[in-house]
Amino acid sequence: MSNANPSVESHYEALEAQWNSVDGSLEFERLVVPTGNSDSPFHRWFHLKEAFSVDLLPTILKQLSFEGMSELRILDCFAGGGTTLVSALEMSSQAHVTATGIERNPFLHHVSSSKVRALQAGPSLAQELKKAYVEVQHLYASDARFTINTPALSTFSNEAYFPPSLLNSLLRIKAAIEFCDASALARDLLLTSAASCVESSSRLRRDGRALRYASERQPKDPWLEFSNRIQQMIEDTSGSQAAASSASVILGDGRRPLLHVDESEKRDLIVFSPPYPNNIDYTEIYKTEAWYLGFYEDSEQFRSQRLRTLRSHPSVRFSEEYDYESSSDAEAVRELLAPILGAVPDDRYATGRRQLIRGYADDMLTLFRHCRKVISNKGRLVYVVGNSAHGSGDALFVIAADLMMARLAELANWRVEEISVARSLRRRVTNSRFLRESVVTLSPA
Ligand SMILES: C[S@@+](CC[C@H](N)C(=O)[O-])C[C@H]1O[C@@H](n2cnc3c(N)ncnc32)[C@H](O)[C@@H]1O
Repeated sequence: MSNANPSVESHYEALEAQWNSVDGSLEFERLVVPTGNSDSPFHRWFHLKEAFSVDLLPTILKQLSFEGMSELRILDCFAGGGTTLVSALEMSSQAHVTATGIERNPFLHHVSSSKVRALQAGPSLAQELKKAYVEVQHLYASDARFTINTPALSTFSNEAYFPPSLLNSLLRIKAAIEFCDASALARDLLLTSAASCVESSSRLRRDGRALRYASERQPKDPWLEFSNRIQQMIEDTSGSQAAASSASVILGDGRRPLLHVDESEKRDLIVFSPPYPNNIDYTEIYKTEAWYLGFYEDSEQFRSQRLRTLRSHPSVRFSEEYDYESSSDAEAVRELLAPILGAVPDDRYATGRRQLIRGYADDMLTLFRHCRKVISNKGRLVYVVGNSAHGSGDALFVIAADLMMARLAELANWRVEEISVARSLRRRVTNSRFLRESVVTLSPA
């Protein structure tokens, strides 16, 4: 275990001392991870490892005394698999909720928007799905010749990753779905199911920051996997009434909600979990599903997608323009970042790490400024974020995103109400107590 970097630690101590920081493990430890999501209707349609729990939104609403409100407007700037939006629609019997999500990844946008559209469709959707499934089954088993395009991503041509017969089956399912005579929503749901079989039909496993080759893994039969998933969807949709509330997911830039939502429509609650500054590149780890569904046709489109994401990873060289540098907060941001930048070891990762720290701070300041413009007077913003360790041995340092974001939020005219420490992360790596995941509540200052 390496010792925490003393100057960065004292910087974090001083920052934290300005705010109310509490141990929130009792309420939040199990809610900052996807506890319950794989067993809950609608949520279970695609398992997003980086999601928070289905129970997070109801818990936050209770804590902030929003529970009894009859109208509630919610925004999630990083919708991911749609946990916030599905949870919001599920509360329709208690309040009329209007929920908006923004998501940049085309595959995750497909997943989350399919879920929320299904929840608002009502029970006839189950019949439609059954009918479409039977047709796809028939087409899949027939000797119909579809045009089958193998995605250009080289991962698909690696036979160790994707055994050819299974790949053929996966591609045939997709071609049959595209050929069948289903409504747009039923087709999107079938495609969500098919895409959610890609990982299990291969020898690839999402493992933290990368897709790894798991030689020992026995890939599953795509058709059986697909059928099981469709059965789940039919089960979930047949029991449900059309939600009285409304929700939608925008394919766009969550750092700049004002590009997508009307400034005059103020929100009561903004809740999100942004990508953490821990090098996870969502474009990379969900790439097989996105290529499979045809969201990228060539490497240029794939690279452009990476460039559109939050600057939380060094997988591409982002522009080195930082808006804070030309703002009145330049000095305050430099002061905030200096001790963290000073801890970056001078090795081959130095440039990428410095860009990540500056880029992440810049994106967060923009995000908080935009959010400030759409929050109602009595509204709250809650973010869930994890801090991360970078480097190794004596050169290891922690990026405390929870504190860094809290200070940036202050610069954007928010008040930090509470930093609730949900859980400590891998303490055996470093003795820094700042390696943790937190739930932070802000109110407009
Ligand atoms: C931690 S995940 C959110 C998970 C979500 N809370 C859930 O429970 O499913 C962060 C998400 O931010 C998305 N993202 C990255 N850059 C973005 C951007 N510029 N705008 C909107 N979303 C972005 C990623 O694709 C990823 O889905």
